[in-house]
Amino acid sequence: MEAEQKTSALLTELEGDIGIIVLSRPKALNAINTQMVAELELVLREWATENLSALIITGEGKAFAAGADISQMASFSAVEAQQFALNGQRILRLLENFPAPTIAAVNGFALGGGCELAMCCDIILAAPRALFGQPEVKLGVIPGFGGTQRLVRRVGRQAALELMMTGRNVKAEEAVSLGIALRIEEDVLAGAKELAGEMAKNGPVAVRLVKEVVNTTDRLDMDTGLAQEAMAFGLCFASEDQKEGMSAFLQKRKAEFTGK
Ligand code: CAA
Repeated sequence: MEAEQKTSALLTELEGDIGIIVLSRPKALNAINTQMVAELELVLREWATENLSALIITGEGKAFAAGADISQMASFSAVEAQQFALNGQRILRLLENFPAPTIAAVNGFALGGGCELAMCCDIILAAPRALFGQPEVKLGVIPGFGGTQRLVRRVGRQAALELMMTGRNVKAEEAVSLGIALRIEEDVLAGAKELAGEMAKNGPVAVRLVKEVVNTTDRLDMDTGLAQEAMAFGLCFASEDQKEGMSAFLQKRKAEFTGK
């Protein structure tokens, strides 16, 4: 591993062109406080321009993240709580719109804000012991980092309401059947790196455009979405990757993509 850095709440590493962010407040089960969110913003902004092939997020110890930090939130006024939610939402949105593919390698508890953070990644892989949930109602509050929006879109209205109204946590297998996680991996970080490697074999311009089109159009009507797709499809043909990818196929050789 190269370029390993520890801030107060995160460990960041660049392994080749894969960026790895480890949520790192293990004594508090990686609870998300304002410091962690601020550090997350810095690294996302820095890495957004570094042409990574993928970004992986995982947690140190037995948790991915057990939610927003309850010891910090306990004394919030209504205005402070709204600001905390707005700021968290803004930074998770940065993650959702990160230009390269993002993978949450959920190694343990992904509760409340932890589950909301994972849902901002393109793919969620779950360790066998992973546990997901939005247990906020048990604390007398509601999800504040986008859970009411993203869980509904991921699992549908009925299943999302059941989870958010009961605060029930779900194990890895149920998370997969609901569509919260894609699949279970025995070694979740190794699985995430392997998946990132599979994506990195493809034309980087095209991989990023797939995400951009999906992110910008999945809330639009079908016709607008199709038009956006056609525009981005056309744009691929302005890249060297398209010329290389198609020539390599026709010449029966492996493509050498440059991301240009
Ligand atoms: N905030 C702050 N501290 C937390 C925390 C959190 N969300 N989750 C765990 N911790 C701390 C505990 O207080 C404990 O600290 P001490 O050792 O100093 O006492 C330490 O982490 C270990 O936790 P437990 O002893 O509770 O560990 P456990 O294995 O018995 O239980 C758990 C694990 C089931 C995840 C339990 O810790 C738990 O229920 N945590 C809270 C989960 C939760 O409610 N998350 C939602 C938060 S609200 C939110 O996220 C709002 C939003 O959308 C923005």
